[in-house]
Amino acid sequence: MKLYMENLIKEFEGRRVLDIRELLIESGALCGIIGPNGAGKSTLLNLIAGLMKPTDGSLLYGEEETAVAPFREMTMVFQAPYLIRTTVDKNIAYPLKLRGWGNAQIEERVGELAEELGLTDFRKQKSWKLSGGETQKVALARALSFRPKLLLLDEPTANVDPATTAEIERMLRKINEKEGTTVILITHNLVQAKRVCREVLFMNQGKVVEFGAAERVLRDPEQELTKRFVDGELFT
Ligand SMILES: Nc1ncnc2c1ncn2[C@@H]1O[C@H](COP(=O)(O)OP(=O)(O)OP(=O)(O)O)[C@@H](O)[C@H]1O
Ligand SMILES: [Mg+2]
Repeated sequence: MKLYMENLIKEFEGRRVLDIRELLIESGALCGIIGPNGAGKSTLLNLIAGLMKPTDGSLLYGEEETAVAPFREMTMVFQAPYLIRTTVDKNIAYPLKLRGWGNAQIEERVGELAEELGLTDFRKQKSWKLSGGETQKVALARALSFRPKLLLLDEPTANVDPATTAEIERMLRKINEKEGTTVILITHNLVQAKRVCREVLFMNQGKVVEFGAAERVLRDPEQELTKRFVDGELFT
């Protein structure tokens, strides 16, 4: 799903934390958002997710450039996801029930996702008994269940071990390639951005500093600020 933003501004109590002049994320992008703490990354993702309203400007979705967030076609995965207090199966099935899928279809889709994410042995387990990495995989399976056109992830592997991180990364690449899902991922892990993303957006102090092919932005940035960030130099 294509996204287009123009003069997008978010202020909290008069303080401007996001100010994007123009940004186009093409349909089918696999885009990483990087930048220091407080840069406005989560604010941007929350605006796209429709979880908060911009102070000003426009944010348009899809080829028709509608201003209404298409909630049924998009979803978000958080760093500490909230699972429903029931089994893994029922968590993954939840968006499908909401969308009126039949039981046989639901069973097939849940089985398929559980298998792909190595959750088969946990299907009947209660969600509160899962480890952090398992919880994150269930949240991802639930998010993918209905084949969203847009998947937003806010530091989905921040508390996850390398093996589980690799599984999650593989899944993101796969749905992007095979199903054309547009994926936008906030990460503090630049190696992950390089491994997973095709495009990278570097934000600082609420602004887009640089946006382009991941390889180029991470290896050979145009902006001095980006260069300092990817070189690991601290700045404010
Ligand atoms: N609900 C809110 N009320 C007031 N200020 C907020 C709110 N949400 C975010 N902010 C402020 O907006 C700025 C951007 O925050 P945001 O969470 O988008 O940053 P971030 O880039 O995601 O940072 P991090 O890497 O630490 O997650 C911060 O200075 C933050 O304090
Ligand atoms: Mg954040």
